[in-house]
Amino acid sequence: MPERIPVQLSGRSYEIILGRHLDRELLSCIETIKPHGVLLVSDQNVFARHGARYEALLAGAGAIRRLIVPPGESSKSLMQLATIYDAALAPPALERSSLVVALGGGMVGDLAGFAAATLLRGLPLLHIPTSLLAMVDSSIGGKTAINHPAGKNLIGSFWQPQAVLCDLTLLDTLPAREFNSALAEIVKYAVIGQEPALEDFEAHKERIKARTAGRLDEIVAACIRHKARVVAEDEREQTGRRVLLNFGHTLAHVIETRCPGRFLHGEAVAIGMVAACRVSRRFAGLDAQSPARLAKLLASCSLPVKVPAELTRQELLAGLGGDKKREAGRIQFVVTPRFGRAEVASLALDDALLDCLLEQP
Ligand SMILES: NC(=O)c1ccc[n+]([C@@H]2O[C@H](COP(=O)([O-])OP(=O)(O)OC[C@H]3O[C@@H](n4cnc5c(N)ncnc54)[C@H](O)[C@@H]3O)[C@@H](O)[C@H]2O)c1
Repeated sequence: MPERIPVQLSGRSYEIILGRHLDRELLSCIETIKPHGVLLVSDQNVFARHGARYEALLAGAGAIRRLIVPPGESSKSLMQLATIYDAALAPPALERSSLVVALGGGMVGDLAGFAAATLLRGLPLLHIPTSLLAMVDSSIGGKTAINHPAGKNLIGSFWQPQAVLCDLTLLDTLPAREFNSALAEIVKYAVIGQEPALEDFEAHKERIKARTAGRLDEIVAACIRHKARVVAEDEREQTGRRVLLNFGHTLAHVIETRCPGRFLHGEAVAIGMVAACRVSRRFAGLDAQSPARLAKLLASCSLPVKVPAELTRQELLAGLGGDKKREAGRIQFVVTPRFGRAEVASLALDDALLDCLLEQP
């Protein structure tokens, strides 16, 4: 039986439906939403593998028009957004009751989500995440965005979907590097959430890496429940609760900006989390063994844990200086005083912090 995980938001609650072979659940979502026409947004990789199946399933929802963008982060752009608007508004134009279906990873989810948020002042949206990262992270919580030459995700909005349909069989075609990269985000939930979950991950990592049904389903469900809870408590990042999900992301953002194209997001987060553990050890009382424990676990998932040698102290400082969290020579940094707990620390942006971040494990 599929699991139904609610995201409780006043007036706009929705469900994340998690399971395998969710065709019946998709049909029942369509029956509930009763859209007049569908705009299916996907990328070429995903559409080639799964598009025909979903177009057939969506056939009962009225005319389908599709917009298939090239894969990769560069499609999260104003240009591709404009092609979605053009497809949606070409006669006969979509109506307020038409449904946008985002079939893809986080890139497609963010792009199609932002199009849904802005077309005709907001169209209903259905997420069908196809990457592990999209299942455990980006499809939950309503953040949508495109990139701008000035930076990532600078143009966006909060727009909650009607439902998220997480069919784990879609992961069968996901490339290994993409899968492993998302394991970093899964480990992050364990580090900031509950330590037993980390022990569980360590004990079963071979089966998780092998995408074994059952074990993978349980861990994905645990991550979704965690994020759904956090989003319900702090939908718009106002109470500080949602910020804790940024554990490891401060250094990761600097690495992604300074070494473009070299690391997938989760890979940069893996490096960032190990560095955040060193910072936590120095400034937040984390025990001495934990940074190495986390580095070992992440490395065993084929994830990098070393800060790239070419990242200089000046670049790091400049990168952190551009970070939203910096204020008057200090930085708001997510630390873990012990695995299973996270909090925000205000740290001086000084040599001690830079040394700690740049230290090799
Ligand atoms: N909105 C949020 O809250 C949020 C949170 C985290 C990340 N993000 C965004 O998510 C994006 C990253 O997401 P991602 O890692 O899923 O990247 P992605 O969407 O670019 O997908 C990664 C690659 O995997 C391919 N792919 C996806 N599913 C597949 C499948 N089932 N079979 C075969 N290939 C498949 C894609 O074509 C692509 O080449 C970034 O743009 C990031 O900013 C958003």
